[in-house]
Amino acid sequence: MEAGQPSRTAMMAAHARARHQADPQRFFTDPLASKILHLDPDALLPPPDDPIARHNIRFVAARSRFAEDSLASAVTAGTRQVVVLGAGLDTFAYRNPHAGLTVFEADHPDTQEWKRQQMAAAGIALPPSLAFAPIDFERDTLADALDAAGLDRTRAAFFIWLGVTPYLTRDAVLTTLRCVAGHTAPVQVVFDYYPEPSSAMAPELRAAYEASTRRVAEFGEPWLSHFTPDGIADELRAMKLDDIDDLTGPELLARYLGEPTPGAGADAGADADAFSGHVIRAGRSTAR
Ligand SMILES: C[S@@+](CC[C@H](N)C(=O)[O-])C[C@H]1O[C@@H](n2cnc3c(N)ncnc32)[C@H](O)[C@@H]1O
Repeated sequence: MEAGQPSRTAMMAAHARARHQADPQRFFTDPLASKILHLDPDALLPPPDDPIARHNIRFVAARSRFAEDSLASAVTAGTRQVVVLGAGLDTFAYRNPHAGLTVFEADHPDTQEWKRQQMAAAGIALPPSLAFAPIDFERDTLADALDAAGLDRTRAAFFIWLGVTPYLTRDAVLTTLRCVAGHTAPVQVVFDYYPEPSSAMAPELRAAYEASTRRVAEFGEPWLSHFTPDGIADELRAMKLDDIDDLTGPELLARYLGEPTPGAGADAGADADAFSGHVIRAGRSTAR
């Protein structure tokens, strides 16, 4: 991220969720997605014809749906704390349907400050169940930031970390996951990651991948890390987060669009798996 500037990719992800609201096959409902961006909900465009762009927009919505569904199950089982890491313009905290659930938003202070301004200008109130934890994942210690914000390590917690790992160094990603795994009480985390693009990737997918990573690098948010499914699973198991569910983007979309689970991308071309992110839920149901 550029010093002193909020995350531009946070704006892009928020746009994707807002646009998804106009998708005739919408599977993630977020009435604040357009409001936080000051967009007219009636002016949102339907999904683009381009299958890669359509897949990418739906993937952003699908990872949120997966995270919030997984959180709802954890709340039913008794969890009362959720931490949204790298929250960007995520609106969960402002439409939190779970009585008694405290939400912690941990994000870069520049993005957080900008979000507060966006919220105030949109007339979205800060709920009393919300606490902010400013942090730079590359420099600060997450445990300290969350302690200062009031997270109780002796009570179960759920972490949501969407759209962030590619922008961090491998060290910062693993250090953050170790902190999550170090939570004393039972803990779960949902996050997404991108495998290295495959050498067999179709030319149009490689071109789309290169164009999108070049674009974000140009405004100061280069992609810094990739993980393989086996590699990240090994890391998580070493941290004792060994209850692991890893879904590719096409698998997730097939689930929400009611399509057969694809061997390859039902929504983004034959080898979309090689391009799409994966979403993982990992956890530990016992205290440490
Ligand atoms: C693509 S946005 C995702 C935002 C949100 N999770 C979503 O899905 O809409 C990336 C987020 O990562 C945060 N981020 C990037 N690098 C960071 C760092 N070093 N420390 C803290 N946050 C960082 C940005 O502030 C931004 O909110």
